[in-house]
Amino acid sequence: MQDFLKIAEQACRESGKIQLDNLNQEREIEFKGAINLVTSVDKACEKFIVELIQGNFPDHDILAEEGGGKRKDSPYKWVIDPLDGTTNYAHRYPLFCTSIALEYQGEIITAAVYEPNRDEMFLAEKGSGATCNGKKIAVSSHSTVNESMLATGFAYNIRETEDNNLNHFKKVVLSAQAVRRDGVAASDLCDVAMGRFDGFWELNLFPWDVAAGFLIIQESGGKVTDFRGKNFEIYSKQILATNDKIHQEMVEILMREL
Ligand code: IPD
Ligand code: CA
Ligand code: CA
Repeated sequence: MQDFLKIAEQACRESGKIQLDNLNQEREIEFKGAINLVTSVDKACEKFIVELIQGNFPDHDILAEEGGGKRKDSPYKWVIDPLDGTTNYAHRYPLFCTSIALEYQGEIITAAVYEPNRDEMFLAEKGSGATCNGKKIAVSSHSTVNESMLATGFAYNIRETEDNNLNHFKKVVLSAQAVRRDGVAASDLCDVAMGRFDGFWELNLFPWDVAAGFLIIQESGGKVTDFRGKNFEIYSKQILATNDKIHQEMVEILMREL
């Protein structure tokens, strides 16, 4: 198990270095959709991470956002977001990270998220707790939404679907102390695990956005479900992640008629 975590940590740290080294350089920016960007740095980070993982675990499956890696029909699958917060990165807004998780027989067992700007490395292994820079972390203790600072985001299909989170945003922003929108789902989840945010919700995310944060929150005492409070899996289209104490109230707010 330790080897998995060591490689995930190394991959995240090196990826963060590539991101910072290139932040103020010329980068190529392409469009995957009307507002969905990908930079040459997303691709360079993914190439580095995939080569490192394949070099160490050649039989493992890889699911990486930019399409690197191959399916091997292994019970092990690495789920990789080489650069979460690409729009921030493209604008040189200094909040972005790398997120790497290892799924074994459908369960996330290892997770690493690294934010190079804050130099924060979040790590978790199933059943062993979660850490930030080596120190154990825990979710917050706020017990009402009224005293909570929450985070959310809006997926790239916001212009194409009615199910774009604007209704949910209205309900929650009128109930919470504050709501933030940082544009980095993996980091938002770590901030819930750390107790900075009391909860996070979003629609239409992908497995690479949530896989590592899912385990990190569970291992720091938080709860992750869909908007109805039912079972979450990384392929789900809804995520509600909280400190557990406000979870039921958040379900009631999200499910309320507007
Ligand atoms: C995006 C970020 C953002 C979220 C989007 C994601 P990317 O990932 O996590 O916070 O709102 O839905 O797609 O493209 O920057 O890796
Ligand atoms: Ca992402
Ligand atoms: Ca990404």
